[in-house]
Amino acid sequence: MSQQRVGPRATTATAFAPASVGNVAIGFDILGFSVNALGDRATVTRTDAPGVVITNTTGVVSDIPREPEKNTAGRSLLAMLEQLDPGFGIALHLEKGIPLGSGLGGSAASAVAAVVAANALLPEPLDKIELLKFAMQGEAVSSGSLHVDNIAPSLFGGLVLTVGIDHPRVKQVPVPAGIRAVLAHPHMYMSTRDARGLLKGSVEMSDFVWQTANLAGFISGCYTDDLDMIRASFEDVVIQPQRQKLIPAFDQVRTAALDAGALGCSISGAGPTVFAWSLEAQAEGVRGGMLAEFVRAGVEADTWIVPIEPVGARIVLP
Ligand code: HSE
Repeated sequence: MSQQRVGPRATTATAFAPASVGNVAIGFDILGFSVNALGDRATVTRTDAPGVVITNTTGVVSDIPREPEKNTAGRSLLAMLEQLDPGFGIALHLEKGIPLGSGLGGSAASAVAAVVAANALLPEPLDKIELLKFAMQGEAVSSGSLHVDNIAPSLFGGLVLTVGIDHPRVKQVPVPAGIRAVLAHPHMYMSTRDARGLLKGSVEMSDFVWQTANLAGFISGCYTDDLDMIRASFEDVVIQPQRQKLIPAFDQVRTAALDAGALGCSISGAGPTVFAWSLEAQAEGVRGGMLAEFVRAGVEADTWIVPIEPVGARIVLP
């Protein structure tokens, strides 16, 4: 049926974009990994009327703005239409699978799903770097700044380093075999905008050196399968110390993860989700330790253990 056809000149298409963990402790605003266990879906349909109409929002988040300018997915599509002027408008149905304000890249996933789906409507589809730029416009609506550490992994998949804003360069960094990400999402809302607003505008020289060494160590450890280097460098000495007070029992949760054998543990994006990396054999123990500390603090939490697969946003059946 031509209405359901997916590909160039389709009249409607649906895309799934995975959740993501931003920062990965040591790569503030530039490093992230995709989490395929949950994500957002966008269904777009060509309209004769120009512009973007958000027809419906469903799923785990109900109170998201319907005005395209104020909606991350809507803003991304507007940016796309403004630049490409394809001669049609877009109706959008957004299905949220990622809780709002969870630190799991929900706004990024909505923007990515929307541009990947809309790409299937174009006579000449764009490459992912072009889609990244449009999705960044949408992400800025929710956080107030252009950052790529959720957009890029949601779009490309895997552990992704992005260098540059105006001309972003994306690198999928290999993850050593057997590593699992353990995620614990305490049931509370945290505003990315607020969590960014509390950060100091300057960094001590000693912390700059330490953080730079940790980022270099972490990336080189990933490229060389050096788990000892990854463990030694898996520490955020700049951002986490300023934000961790916002998350109940963060110290205890992190300590429990490390005691259970995690390679490292930090805040996912702006929080409140906390993530750890561990080898598969330790992952259940890490999860149990993190969850027990949230429970002890009287906080309910969802947990996941996921591989870090290089699979990003994709077209799916409606
Ligand atoms: N890098 C961003 C931050 C991610 O930590 O503010 C927000 O999801």
